[in-house]
Amino acid sequence: MITPDIRYIGVNDHDLDLFEGQYIVPDGMAYNSYLILDEKTAVLDSVDARFGEAWLARLAAELQGRRPDYLIVQHMEPDHSANIMRFLETYPEATVVSSAKAFQMMKNFYGSDLSDRPRLVVGDRSTLSLGRRTLTFFTAPMVHWPEVFFTWDEADGVLFSADAFGKFGALDREDPEGWACEARRYYFGIVGKYGSQVQAVLKKLAGLDIRTICPLHGPVLESPLTEYLEAYQTWSSYGVESEGVVINYTSVYGHTAEAAELLAQLLRDKGCPKVAVNDLARCDMPEAVEDTFRYGKAVFATTTYNADIFPFMKTFLEHLTERNWQNRTVGLIENGSWAPTAAKGMRTLLEGCKNLTFLEPAVRINSALDTQSRAALEALAEALMA
Ligand code: FEO
Repeated sequence: MITPDIRYIGVNDHDLDLFEGQYIVPDGMAYNSYLILDEKTAVLDSVDARFGEAWLARLAAELQGRRPDYLIVQHMEPDHSANIMRFLETYPEATVVSSAKAFQMMKNFYGSDLSDRPRLVVGDRSTLSLGRRTLTFFTAPMVHWPEVFFTWDEADGVLFSADAFGKFGALDREDPEGWACEARRYYFGIVGKYGSQVQAVLKKLAGLDIRTICPLHGPVLESPLTEYLEAYQTWSSYGVESEGVVINYTSVYGHTAEAAELLAQLLRDKGCPKVAVNDLARCDMPEAVEDTFRYGKAVFATTTYNADIFPFMKTFLEHLTERNWQNRTVGLIENGSWAPTAAKGMRTLLEGCKNLTFLEPAVRINSALDTQSRAALEALAEALMA
């Protein structure tokens, strides 16, 4: 129970190998759904296809003999929309409330835009009275798809925030790291590209007295909400969240790895508040992505490969550029045994990023560390600490 009138009817998924086809979820995933019991009853979103039966059973138990008047579809990604048709088979009289774009998507995904049955098309700041409370809808395009809207229940101070403020992890497991760690990996993986759209919706919400946030993944967030709202401000403005340096590397025979570890040790010795080191061929790459958005300074170390850069680094830099990575200080380390070109290749891949400050010169390793390259790493450590 979230409030006496708002019930949680979501499900936990511990069988998923990759969320959205790419993110590991070692602690599972929650697909949240909510029921509002007012003079009218409203369900907010469904759940992943595999959990239709469990969700409908949970809904029926909370309804206690009542029937849903509305199904509010805030987001059409199938982890939330997959059971719309199944819901309507059970409750054919319910009115489906959604955006015009979402109804178009329903036709594409499920074969009908529901125009032949009760439906209500809503837009930005449309309202829906349930009796004691009136819901207000705020469009939130690209957070995380174009059809998304949030739902605001002023009477209870509850914001239903679609994917925003969500995190990886099922709700029947305690997350010892708290909200931010998996919320950050989720945010930068899934919404990171759309910082300006997140900023726009945060502005819309600025005057509301929000006391509870009900996202479509992760825990319901209760006051004080400062941690969550400030994190979303920082993340969506591509600000520096934590002082520190992240070193992302690839290495074939261990020499570039040795350089990365040596640089990390030099930084620690100089009192760097946090040094994160990621082997891009072996780590969970979305973890490296979140580190690289989190800290103010990033070092990329890689080998020259086919007159370009090593594949895992290339993929990693694409993860950053496609998510509008910006506003950072950058150090480069290249390794090459006959014609090093990796620093040039990395610069080229990063050239579309706004407001990057490159520390010069890039460190060059000719196959293995030597006196000269060790001195260059020392100089890079000094520059990163400056
Ligand atoms: Fe959780 Fe964008 O779907």
